[in-house]
Amino acid sequence: MATFTSHSPQETEALGEQLARAATAGLVFGLSGDLGAGKTSLVRGLARGLGITTRVHSPTFTLVNEYPGGRLKLFHLDLYRLETPDQLRSAGIEEFLSPDGVTVIEWAERLELGGWKFTPGRNFVRVNLALVSETERLITYDGL
Ligand SMILES: Nc1ncnc2c1ncn2[C@@H]1O[C@H](COP(=O)(O)OP(=O)(O)O)[C@@H](O)[C@H]1O
Ligand SMILES: [Mg+2]
Repeated sequence: MATFTSHSPQETEALGEQLARAATAGLVFGLSGDLGAGKTSLVRGLARGLGITTRVHSPTFTLVNEYPGGRLKLFHLDLYRLETPDQLRSAGIEEFLSPDGVTVIEWAERLELGGWKFTPGRNFVRVNLALVSETERLITYDGL
């Protein structure tokens, strides 16, 4: 696990950008951490690092936002509203776990509820963001 202390949304985005540059096709980033921890900020950086210029917003009424136009296509999922094992299993998450591009999942700890193992592997990179203070975030992540 690597550790990074971020002092601003910009620094969190910059870490995302750095991770995206090392990303290869089929990679899944699983983000965990409380509301306001900076998950969506990190996704903005990932998108930028892949060369995507579209504005990034969390998918709210759909499972996934797709961002083409970069070095690899980015799929952005947010599992916040999927609360039961049934909801998780029937949401259609599966195809994005071995993506034709790169997937990033907010609230990835919910995958376990749906029966998926939240473990590091060939194609799964865990990123945890923890609130330290108003502007400080402790970010731990699997090396790429
Ligand atoms: N170091 C930091 N990294 C990321 N966001 C930060 C940081 N410091 C303050 N913030 C603020 O925290 C909020 C993070 O929001 P967001 O990225 O949407 O988090 P999440 O998706 O985890 O709910 C934003 O309002 C942002 O301005
Ligand atoms: Mg978010």
